[in-house]
Amino acid sequence: MNSTKLFLAGALAISLCARAQDVQHLSITQPGGMPGWPVITGISRGTNGVNVTWDGPAGYYELFEARSLHNPAWVAVGKDTNLNRIATVPGGTSNAFFKISGPAPIYAGSEACAQCHSPILNTEVNTRHAAAFTNALFVTDGGQTNTACLACHTLGFDLPTGFVNQTKTPHLTSVQCENCHGPAASHAANPDDPAVRPRAEIAATLCGGCHTDPRHPIFEEWTASSHAQVIGGLNATNQIDSCGRCHSGSVRLSLLETNALPMGDAQIGIVCATCHDPHQTNANPAQLRNPIASTNDYFMPPNGSFLSQYNPKINVCGQCHNHAGASWTNNACAPHHSPQYNMLLGTIGELASGAAPYQPGSHALLITNQCVDCHMQTTPFVSSTQPANKGHNFEVYQYGLCVNCHDTPGPLVTFVTGDVSNQIQQVKSDLDYWAAHSTNTAVQILFAKYGNLAWEYTTPGELSSGGKGPNATEQTEIPENIQKARFNLYVVLQDGSFGVHNPLYTITLLQTAEDWIEEELEP
Ligand code: HEC
Ligand code: HEC
Ligand code: HEC
Ligand code: HEC
Ligand code: HEC
Ligand code: HEC
Ligand code: HEC
Ligand code: HEC
Ligand code: HEC
Repeated sequence: MNSTKLFLAGALAISLCARAQDVQHLSITQPGGMPGWPVITGISRGTNGVNVTWDGPAGYYELFEARSLHNPAWVAVGKDTNLNRIATVPGGTSNAFFKISGPAPIYAGSEACAQCHSPILNTEVNTRHAAAFTNALFVTDGGQTNTACLACHTLGFDLPTGFVNQTKTPHLTSVQCENCHGPAASHAANPDDPAVRPRAEIAATLCGGCHTDPRHPIFEEWTASSHAQVIGGLNATNQIDSCGRCHSGSVRLSLLETNALPMGDAQIGIVCATCHDPHQTNANPAQLRNPIASTNDYFMPPNGSFLSQYNPKINVCGQCHNHAGASWTNNACAPHHSPQYNMLLGTIGELASGAAPYQPGSHALLITNQCVDCHMQTTPFVSSTQPANKGHNFEVYQYGLCVNCHDTPGPLVTFVTGDVSNQIQQVKSDLDYWAAHSTNTAVQILFAKYGNLAWEYTTPGELSSGGKGPNATEQTEIPENIQKARFNLYVVLQDGSFGVHNPLYTITLLQTAEDWIEEELEP
């Protein structure tokens, strides 16, 4: 069943970089998605020889080596049952060539999956992927017979058993299961054989081979975004669940699907499949897992069961950009960097009334797509040097965006940016002033020991520098008013929008902080 075919895959280029991860994710992009053939992706020298990695569909592989051009006899390296798509060649010379023998790609077409995966197929057929070949515009553009278009709009184009034309291979039109999972006829015939079980790859490279080019450079934009970055240390056992639920694409998917945590494999960013459900179980065109807008308060703490706290109805960005359970009573450190959703709704921060506030601003209630309308603005394709902007670097380009909704944004911009930044500095210097001038003896002792850090958290926030603040016991000497004031200050700072997310509420938070500091200064 596994007829194999040999072909030249690549020549040796020694590189000294160590392999970064143990789990092999798709590291290349190809029009068509998951490669149907093996492709060599890396050759590097390790301690035990030369490591060769390749990519391709699930199945048995075998690596062959030719020592040099002058000695072109192919010698098998290891067995023909390699499932890991990595092999180490002991010794290894700098002139060697390698080739890979792998499973022949046999495409089945999505109907062949129906028998066992009908729930997935039933939703997947309603996605735009499933109409990529029949889309009216694609037809009028002549795409159906233009070979330049077929790799991304059909299954397995240009590969044996792949799409040929509409008459010969009508079951291989449009984007299907096997574009993303690799050829799977062998799996459909032998579902119990783990060796040919299709890959369920989540790396963005899977989508990136098609969602690219100047007309829709989504992969390029995403690659440049901070969502493609991952903070270090996520693989540590005390971080993988807690921090990984918002910082790692692989951890979050495992939690959502109640799979075991991907130990050792948490360094996957916020990938396409984190926000998009490729099988689309909900009826929205962009295949998002969560809605674009919502107005219920929400946060996901870094502890406790993920699923019992997960709310799928919350804004897709608010899923992670929330305060994560921050409270003014936490003295150890400043609130997390991520309170944007709660700032939009006015549900984080302390007010004089003390009650947990809910004060959404106009930007939460009147901007239909909330975060997306400001952070994912798009511009059309002009030319290959002026590509389209599909909004997938998630950045606000400039305050020029205010013009879209405000006739004379000038004063508004000054109000939210200039005034809020100034007020942040003002509250910070008022706290410093309080620390130096408080008539409270306990505070005077703190000031003697910590100087301007006397009002800070044990691990001070970004506005201060110079080591630790008061320890856990000493924190109780800091009056509640000051603790609440510093909390408001840091919530506004960590929000990062300098008031834009909720202008009037932001001003209220900072004003309240000032009032509390003044109160503490008046004996
Ligand atoms: C005869 C039944 C059957 C058919 C037909 C079938 N599958 Fe499967 N598939 C299975 C079983 C059983 C599993 C293993 C489920 C498990 O281990 O949880 C599986 C697993 C998978 C996985 C998941 C691998 C993973 O790591 O989680 C993918 C992807 C998949 N199949 C794709 C396909 C595609 C694409 C087709 C059609 C070309 C197909 N299957 C046809 C039975 C089938
Ligand atoms: C084989 C190429 C290919 C791969 C792989 C692929 N896509 Fe697509 N995708 C397309 C094409 C082509 C369309 C447009 C179909 C149409 O509108 O006719 C599309 C459309 C979409 C749409 C709908 C766009 C809209 O305007 O509503 C989303 C969302 C999407 N893809 C996400 C993904 C994600 C996420 C992945 C990876 C998990 C992925 N795609 C992998 C080719 C691909
Ligand atoms: C590199 C892969 C790739 C190639 C090659 C490609 N497309 Fe696409 N095409 C896509 C993707 C991805 C989308 C979905 C874009 C999106 O919604 O952001 C798409 C969408 C489309 C759409 C739907 C646009 C809409 O808004 O409804 C049409 C029509 C289309 N392509 C025509 C073509 C034609 C004609 C060709 C050949 C000249 C072609 N494509 C070649 C990947 C490709
Ligand atoms: C646009 C790419 C794409 C298409 C098309 C696609 N899948 Fe998937 N599939 C994925 C990704 C990414 C994952 C892993 C992430 C996840 O589980 O959501 C996955 C996971 C799976 C899994 C394992 C986890 C689960 O959800 O059960 C199975 C089984 C599966 N796909 C089968 C199919 C079948 C059958 C089809 C066609 C009817 C299909 N897929 C179409 C991208 C795709
Ligand atoms: C509720 C989701 C959530 C949880 C849980 C979470 N984070 Fe974050 N974190 C975010 C978001 C969202 C950002 C980006 C916000 C921004 O930059 O404005 C972020 C930013 C950061 C940054 C700054 C990144 C940079 O590049 O500047 C660090 C460092 C960080 N988090 C560490 C952690 C650690 C460590 C944990 C676990 C103890 C953790 N986070 C738990 C959502 C979360
Ligand atoms: C942080 C979440 C997030 C990530 C990560 C993400 N997307 Fe999106 N994507 C969205 C949202 C939200 C929209 C809807 C935008 C809108 O309606 O204006 C969208 C829209 C799209 C569309 C439809 C575009 C259109 O013009 O209609 C495509 C296609 C798409 N995404 C593909 C991808 C691919 C491919 C990746 C990975 C390279 C990716 N997305 C990563 C959130 C995300
Ligand atoms: C799965 C969690 C998650 C989702 C969903 C998510 N983000 Fe993020 N976002 C993060 C994390 C984590 C970071 C910080 C990454 C880093 O720097 O290491 C981040 C960073 C950012 C940044 C850059 C912040 C900075 O300081 O540079 C922006 C802007 C952003 N996200 C906007 C959005 C928008 C808009 C959406 C919704 C379309 C969204 N995010 C959805 C987790 C998420
Ligand atoms: C009215 C437009 C608007 C809306 C709505 C909006 N933002 Fe922002 N956001 C901004 C502006 C403007 C900035 C400041 C940009 C800058 O300086 O880079 C910002 C800053 C941020 C930052 C910090 C970026 C950085 O570089 O530090 C993050 C993260 C963020 N927003 C996420 C979100 C999320 C998540 C939502 C929805 C809950 C949202 N925003 C809603 C306009 C908006
Ligand atoms: C997508 C539309 C949209 C964008 C973009 C937008 N706003 Fe607004 N904004 C509104 C609406 C609607 C209101 C409420 C009506 C009004 O006061 O004009 C509002 C109100 C405000 C207010 C009054 C305070 C409040 O909460 O009612 C300020 C200040 C403000 N916007 C500043 C900005 C700034 C600065 C930008 C650019 C960074 C911006 N807006 C971008 C739609 C938008």
